[in-house]
Amino acid sequence: MEIIIQSDAVAASRASARLVARLVREKPNAVLGLATGSTPLMLYKEMIRLHKEEGLDFSRVATFNLDEYIGLEKDHPQSYYTFMWENLFSQINIKPENVHLPDGMAKDVPASCAAYEQAIIAAGGIDLQVLGIGSDGHIGFNEPTSSFASRTRIKTLTQQTVQDNARFFDGDESKVPHHCITMGIGTIMDARMNLMLAFGAGKAGAVAATVEGPVCAMMPASILQHHPVAKVFIDEAAATALQLSDYYRWIYAGKPEWQRDA
Ligand code: PGA
Repeated sequence: MEIIIQSDAVAASRASARLVARLVREKPNAVLGLATGSTPLMLYKEMIRLHKEEGLDFSRVATFNLDEYIGLEKDHPQSYYTFMWENLFSQINIKPENVHLPDGMAKDVPASCAAYEQAIIAAGGIDLQVLGIGSDGHIGFNEPTSSFASRTRIKTLTQQTVQDNARFFDGDESKVPHHCITMGIGTIMDARMNLMLAFGAGKAGAVAATVEGPVCAMMPASILQHHPVAKVFIDEAAATALQLSDYYRWIYAGKPEWQRDA
């Protein structure tokens, strides 16, 4: 894994956006895996800026989101569909037909999940997957003890995740759906590059366990230790529990400029 520690979340988001931009310039029909939550918001702002000010072209890009709540209509204010259109898609030149999210209203959930996996394969696989991390180490909604071999499927959120996400539902936990559809850990591991973002002291424990702890289903993100190209962009606060933070800084400081965005 490559650990990139930046002074704050804005700097880390900008650094991660440079990787996205490089990929899209080199491969205009790139397939991006996208995430929701507060963490990727600054990355999406920077992608929008790159589009508007530097002409970054998303017209041939396809996207697949990690997850969606079950039981929320697409136009529900807290659906991830709404989140993505409000925070990214409406402000770049992506084609609506190239945008994919799991269908939280599917009548046949297993069939819909299988179709999602097929659609990813048909698009050529995910080139770059953006990930946040839950305070319990989840990626997508793959909560602790999720199988490392899992594919897109229904999951039940932990009570901790329901509590964490209540802030988006007027602080009312009873409004947070308890079920979701999420890409599996196996699906995430198939992406050619994984780009994880984590900011703030609340993520420091999960980041340290992911990067320096044992690979363990209790810490789903730790599977990224087995991914050949996993990059972790964090701010100082999220880096505080890392034993080898000085080493990661030393590695990054010694990289030639051209290699930083590779
Ligand atoms: P957050 O969520 O970005 O809102 O902290 C991350 C996650 O749950 O994966």
